[in-house]
Amino acid sequence: MKLLILYFSGTGNTEYVSSYIEDSLKKLGLSIEVIRVCIEVFPPEKVWDFDLICFGFPIFDLDSPEVVKKYLERIPSKPGELLPIGLFMFVTMGYSAGNAIRRNFKRLEKKGFVFLGSVAVKMPGSDGLIMLNEDSKYVKEALERNYDEIPEVDNFIDRIKEIIIKIKSKRDIAQFKSKLPLSVGSLLISPFFKLVYIILIGYLKKRFRVDENCIRCELCVKICPNHNISLIEDEIIFDKKCSLCLRCIHQCPQHAIQIGKYTVNKFRWHGPKGNFKPLKMLKEVY
Ligand SMILES: Cc1cc2nc3c(=O)[nH]c(=O)nc-3n(C[C@H](O)[C@H](O)[C@H](O)COP(=O)(O)O)c2cc1C
Repeated sequence: MKLLILYFSGTGNTEYVSSYIEDSLKKLGLSIEVIRVCIEVFPPEKVWDFDLICFGFPIFDLDSPEVVKKYLERIPSKPGELLPIGLFMFVTMGYSAGNAIRRNFKRLEKKGFVFLGSVAVKMPGSDGLIMLNEDSKYVKEALERNYDEIPEVDNFIDRIKEIIIKIKSKRDIAQFKSKLPLSVGSLLISPFFKLVYIILIGYLKKRFRVDENCIRCELCVKICPNHNISLIEDEIIFDKKCSLCLRCIHQCPQHAIQIGKYTVNKFRWHGPKGNFKPLKMLKEVY
């Protein structure tokens, strides 16, 4: 049996949870093959080589980032001769996931996936962090939190383990279908939220710039998931395809990428353990 942990992570939170899940599953000794890889290097049609998928993404505007939506669109429907794939979902968020799990599973349901369970994990908000001073209360809490134990993810792993054991005794995957989470409150506020977000995104995207500290190392060019950044005639240019994942800002070794003046001399986040390295993540080709 083969299980794929497939994820997108802008600033390291989701990548961290994906590795937490991988380590925990491997420790269980369930004699299954576990592969973990990010969507940026994994061809979508290859999902059909797996029996189970654990799919993770960060919450943006109570939904998934554009890059994730586009990826889900590119996953082909189940080839006729294959069995449906069991899908678990994990999301990381600053405060609320709204109905993102439900909405994103719906993007896959008709393609031949069976929903088996999910978890929403509260993590430091990568959006708020770039506007905060290093000594702010929120930053200190983010840095001091113990990320070695995440009880909600442990419960999620228990669910995965239970399903794996049952499937191994050759029971039909559809039997274990789980109910999709639904937040009625979010359904009501989400249109308003969306509108504010669209306006805000439009405003912020136009204000991306590099300051005098930029040394043209081109790390941002290499790690942008939307290939939105380029070096042209010694100028760093931001195009219009940004999905505001903020990877470039948090990762710039010179802290030289700014959104207007809002992020100058503010905090930068490198994931829960401070060791998120997108370049390494992108080299782990499947
Ligand atoms: C553009 C943007 C929008 C966000 N919108 C939400 C949101 O609607 N709800 C929420 O709880 N967190 C929101 N967040 C916070 C992220 O979901 C959270 O920091 C997540 O863990 C980031 O994961 P990553 O480090 O894997 O990219 C947003 C972050 C960004 C950058």
